Amino acid sequence: MTSIPRAGVIGNPISHSLSPKLHSYWLDRYGIEGEYTALQVSEDQLESTLHALPKQGFIGANVTLPHKVSIMQFADKITDRATLIGAANTLIFKEDGRIFADNTDGYGFMANLHQGAPDWDPKAGPAAIFGAGGAARAIIVALADAGVPEIIISNRTRPKAEALRADFGARVRVVDWVQADQMLEDANVAINTTSLGMAGAQEFKVSLDALPPTAVVTDIVYNPLRTPFLMAAEEKGCITVDGLGMLLHQGVPGFERWFGQRPEVDEATRQAVLA
Ligand code: ATR
Repeated sequence: MTSIPRAGVIGNPISHSLSPKLHSYWLDRYGIEGEYTALQVSEDQLESTLHALPKQGFIGANVTLPHKVSIMQFADKITDRATLIGAANTLIFKEDGRIFADNTDGYGFMANLHQGAPDWDPKAGPAAIFGAGGAARAIIVALADAGVPEIIISNRTRPKAEALRADFGARVRVVDWVQADQMLEDANVAINTTSLGMAGAQEFKVSLDALPPTAVVTDIVYNPLRTPFLMAAEEKGCITVDGLGMLLHQGVPGFERWFGQRPEVDEATRQAVLA
């Protein structure tokens, strides 16, 4: 049977996902015959969907909320980094029926940072992270991998930050949420991984007074693109990198594995996704 290779993004809800726009744009740009669609799947449909998709021509999928953790139980092989993060966002359906699971969020984070701040040196100083959810986990793994000497985390619910320190060891330090501004003092990079500042969510209120102007500042929130956190950092003279690029870059490894072409993340890609 020859059919058009298909991929998609599995989530619930899924209508807000930008991934179909992103991958459809790349398919079109590189003249690849293929299809990428949004797949609304509830928790109890997850296993049967994973078995059904390859029969419908699917060669892989992205996975988004709320399935990034639970999807792992259905994978036959999980990459080390996905195991370390405890979540997967990229699946490959092998011809023999096996499912490979990977996590490209940390890669996407790092590729975005390097693209937006090419002179940033991970080894040059500490990273200060606001938040301790799933996104923070992927980012910590990527930062540690890149040789960041110290990772300072502050989270409203302190035990979640302590749990990350327990998992990722001595390089991680936890600072209380009420003193979160103090972790910025020597920061080489400052990262918001909370939902604060997102359209419709609460404001990001931590003061950036202590932040050195040499720090690179990035936010995983991309709606709006210029969050109050990034604007405050810009006022301090910091280089800022918005969160849309992380989403675009995390899609690169999957697209390459499925469709055999490493896609470019550039201004045209951004515009296609924002349109
Ligand atoms: P994800 O797994 O996608 O990162 P999450 O686990 O819901 O999502 O994490 C969201 C992050 O935003 C958490 O660090 C959360 O803090 P808590 O662990 O205390 O819940 C943070 N967050 C959300 N709303 C917040 C608020 N109003 N003030 C401070 N932090 C907030």
